[in-house]
Parts: sequence; structure tokens; C-alpha cells
Amino acid sequence: MLNVEDIRKDFPILSRKVNGKPLVYFDNAATSQTPQQVIDAIVDYYSNYNANIHRGVHTLSQEATDLYELSRQKVQAHFNAKHSYEIIFTSGTTHSINLIANGFSSLLKKGDEIIVSALEHHSNIVPWQMLCERTGALLKVIPMNDDGELVMSEYDKLLSKNTKLVFTNHISNALGTINPIKYIIEEAHKVGAAVLIDGAQACPHIKPDVQALNVDFYVASAHKMCGPTGMGMLYGKEEWLNKLPPYQGGGEMIAEVSFEKTTYADLPHKFEAGTPNIAGGIVFGTAIDYMNSIGFDAIADYENELLEYGTQKLLEIEGLKIYGTSKHKTSVLSFNLEGIHPYDVGSILDKLGIAVRTGHHCAQPIMDYYKIPGTIRASFAFYNTKAEIDALVEGVKKAKMMLS
Ligand code: ALA
Repeated sequence: MLNVEDIRKDFPILSRKVNGKPLVYFDNAATSQTPQQVIDAIVDYYSNYNANIHRGVHTLSQEATDLYELSRQKVQAHFNAKHSYEIIFTSGTTHSINLIANGFSSLLKKGDEIIVSALEHHSNIVPWQMLCERTGALLKVIPMNDDGELVMSEYDKLLSKNTKLVFTNHISNALGTINPIKYIIEEAHKVGAAVLIDGAQACPHIKPDVQALNVDFYVASAHKMCGPTGMGMLYGKEEWLNKLPPYQGGGEMIAEVSFEKTTYADLPHKFEAGTPNIAGGIVFGTAIDYMNSIGFDAIADYENELLEYGTQKLLEIEGLKIYGTSKHKTSVLSFNLEGIHPYDVGSILDKLGIAVRTGHHCAQPIMDYYKIPGTIRASFAFYNTKAEIDALVEGVKKAKMMLS
């Protein structure tokens, strides 16, 4: 059982006011808030250990290197990767996806097929379109239904011996749908295709086990898990990471360099050219420790309670429609008021101190499916409360009155 009032004390930002009203932060799917423990760890790094890593003989460099590699081990343990060198630190999910898409340029040929889902964020559509342009491969799409779920019978039909890669998010950022990734992975493997799962929206809510999933690649961002921005991870099975060429050239990713020939460093350094986000890497581990101290079972139970409460309360408003009505979903409520533009509602909510995201949420194909310009999206985290949901509902009622 989670003690929300105590947890809220960890987040200094939650006690600030916006436009004279107490902040109600419901834009967690865009970025989560940062607990004091993570803020302290950032200050501690810059106050005590700031140095470049993997390079220096001096004490500061070694201390920073040890903390950075300790964090990689925490990420490995959290995702249950077999080896710590299967965890590549990146600047975020988008960087991780582009790294893989770039690597597959040399592994695909004309006529090969890539399957993506209709529920993707643009960051999981555009890199594959660019990959298709480079290689002549074809992009195929698993369609969605009105509840915002993927149609698995259509997925089965898309799979063939030509399928080389399958990409889907674990949870849709725009609708909150939890996709059946275990099935998707198993079926893709039957035709010999590799699978990448975008876990950016899943990791704030659940703890994925990459070995149990038997997934080839899994990617996520620290800033959605109470960590810093500009920091993310890519898990790849060792055999895949060895097969892929490096993404960027530079310092740290080499074994030997001469003007005639360069050889590359072992994993994970082969994919980590240049000076990384050292503070971000170190405190990613702190953020993971923090979330595990709350506990993912408790987080899931509490957020489900918020989701049920919010769904029921919002649906009491006449003319309000929720998009994304799967039984398997996380604490995201995407909705519209009949005849009113989502942006206008979002602006009124902001005046009331309530932060939501409005628009297409970087998922235009989903909006096209529903034939809408966008939605108002309220996404809840474990530090939100039912009282805050009540404030949202009152705010939406007020916006409706003002805009109708
Ligand atoms: N992908 C983030 C969102 O859904 C930014 O808002």
C-alpha cells in the first residue's frame, strides 16, 4: 500500500503554484517529475565527482567511472538483462531507436519487410521510413481498432519469411493501451524476425523482464522514470549488438586507430562514442532505486485505482469522449469535448494550474484513425491523487461552460 502524502513530500515541484493555483501535474507521459533523492544525486555529482570517465588515472575520473558503471549494473538488474554490457546508455528512446535503425541499414535488402504498429509515436515510425528509403525494404502496419488496440489477427497475416524486423511500443503514449508484446515477440521469432520494443511509456508503470520476454531490443528514457532528461537506454541481446555496426564514430568507441584502419571497442563502448551524459548516467541508477523503493506492484495497483476513478468521473461530463478504451491500459486518459478544440481546453486548464498535454501527442496516425485533430491527455503517476482528479474534472466542466 502506497503512502501518497509521504511520497509527494519527495517532489519539491508538487508544492509550487501555477497561475496562483496549486500545481496539478497530469503530463507524466511527457515527462515525470523528479524526486529530491535524484536532485540531490545530481548536485552530489557536480559537487564531488565531476570528471570525464573511462579515461583518467586520477581519482575523480575513477570515482565517476565507478559510479557510472554501477548505474549500468542497476539498469541491467532492473531490466533483468543477462550482461551489463548489453545495456547501452543513450540520450533517450529516440536515440536508441535511431541507433538500431541505422545499424540495420547494412543488414536489410530490397524486398525485406519491417512491421510497425498503428499505435506508434513518430519516433518509432520515421526512423523506419528512413531505413526503408535507404535499403528498399517495405514498411507494413498492424492496424488498430476503435478501442485503440492492435488487431492481432491482421498481425498474423502480415508476418512472412520476408519479415526481418518488428517494432511496437509496449504501451501507447497517446492512448495508454498495453500491447500484447509477448505474443508479438513469439510470433515474430517464428519467422526469424528481430523485435524491438519501445518501453518509454511502460517503464514508469511496470518492470519489464527482457529475458522472460525474450525480446531482441528494448528501449526506454530515464526522464519518464523520475530520472533526468537527455538520458536513456538500449537493451540488446549480445548477439544482435555484436552484429550491428557502430552508430557514431569518435573517442571511447575504438580499440585501435590508425589512418589505415580502425578497430572498435567491445560492448557496450562500441555504441558510446564521445563524452556521455555522465551525471545523467549516474543518477539514472538513483531514479531506478527510487522507483523500486516505492515498488512497481504498489505503483500499478494505485495507478489503476486512479485510472478507474478518473474514467468514471470524466465520463459523467456530457459530450466527453475518451479515446483508448482497451481493458488493458495504463493511467492515461485521452479525451475530447464535443465541438471544442483540445488546445482551448488545455489553455483553460493551465490557467487553473492543471498541466495536461493537448494535440496529436506525436502520434498523428492515431488521430487520423479517429478523424480528430488531437486530444486532451491527462496522464497520472503514483504521486497524483483523487483530489487532483476532482480538480481536473471541475476544470473540464468550467472549460466546457466557457467554450460552448
Ligand atoms: N513522448 C512524450 C509524450 O507522449 C513526449 O508526451
